[in-house]
Amino acid sequence: MFFQIEVTTHCSFICFYCAGRDMPQRHMEWPVFERVLGGIPAGAHAVSLQGEGEPTLHPRFWGMVAAVRGRGLSPTTITNGYEIDVGRIAAELPDVAVSLDTLDEAEATRIGRLKLPRVLESVEQLAATMGPARLRIMTVDYGQDLAPLRRYLQGLGIRQHIVQPLQRKDDYARRYPGRVPAAGAYHYRCRFLQAPVMRFYDIGGRELPCCFIKDTSAFTSIDALAADLARGVVPAPCAGCREILRDVAQVVRA
Ligand SMILES: C[S@@+](CC[C@H](N)C(=O)[O-])C[C@H]1O[C@@H](n2cnc3c(N)ncnc32)[C@H](O)[C@@H]1O
Ligand code: SF4
Ligand code: SF4
Repeated sequence: MFFQIEVTTHCSFICFYCAGRDMPQRHMEWPVFERVLGGIPAGAHAVSLQGEGEPTLHPRFWGMVAAVRGRGLSPTTITNGYEIDVGRIAAELPDVAVSLDTLDEAEATRIGRLKLPRVLESVEQLAATMGPARLRIMTVDYGQDLAPLRRYLQGLGIRQHIVQPLQRKDDYARRYPGRVPAAGAYHYRCRFLQAPVMRFYDIGGRELPCCFIKDTSAFTSIDALAADLARGVVPAPCAGCREILRDVAQVVRA
């Protein structure tokens, strides 16, 4: 199973699509982290230290990595690639993902992915130090031209390129009204609730069934979400989720 722990909501970037920019800015407290980690069962599980913030900014990020490894679990993360310790990542993480949306510095700055030259330097150093097979690039497709980025990654030998559309869920999309289609009809079957696919622990250590619930104000329990969907009601924390939409249309191109 896949586990994800939101270790911080702080970030040095201001991506226009990031739900974390509207959240209280805090680091996960160490006792909360220890409790969450202690609850993850032993086994060949990946634990991603990452939520709606830049994980490497947590002052005890490397202690968290060591604690995950100490439990015999496999640590990973997604980083914005700014101010990272390439040598340590190569030595202590089996794999890592870096987010990169464009090679155009002015465009990167416009969308809030700052310091592009430094990020590209990180990507190139990681590819050289770890080998491209241990590196994944995450891209949000918001309508930009992806061809130059794809050529660049090919040149570096990086094959794992995950391109995701802008999130449609209400609790993300409120940051970019009009950029994604409004929710249509639902089918009410969520694969994250039908079987435990993953567990996400938010900054306060709250256990969630997926990584898509950013507004937890109406969340009570995983069972309550499943019960609502079973009777044909979309619970507020799931509003707009593509996992339960019948017609998953793509991003509205700007
Ligand atoms: C929330 S970030 C946290 C990790 C790190 N700060 C970073 O940006 O890589 C994790 C991933 O989610 C993506 N992401 C954030 N908001 C999104 C949205 N509204 N739609 C699609 N992807 C999104 C980011 O681009 C990044 O690849
Ligand atoms: S770098 Fe990551 S956490 Fe920071 S604003 Fe962008 S998506 Fe959000
Ligand atoms: S937010 Fe989406 S993926 Fe998560 S439980 Fe609700 S319907 Fe399922």
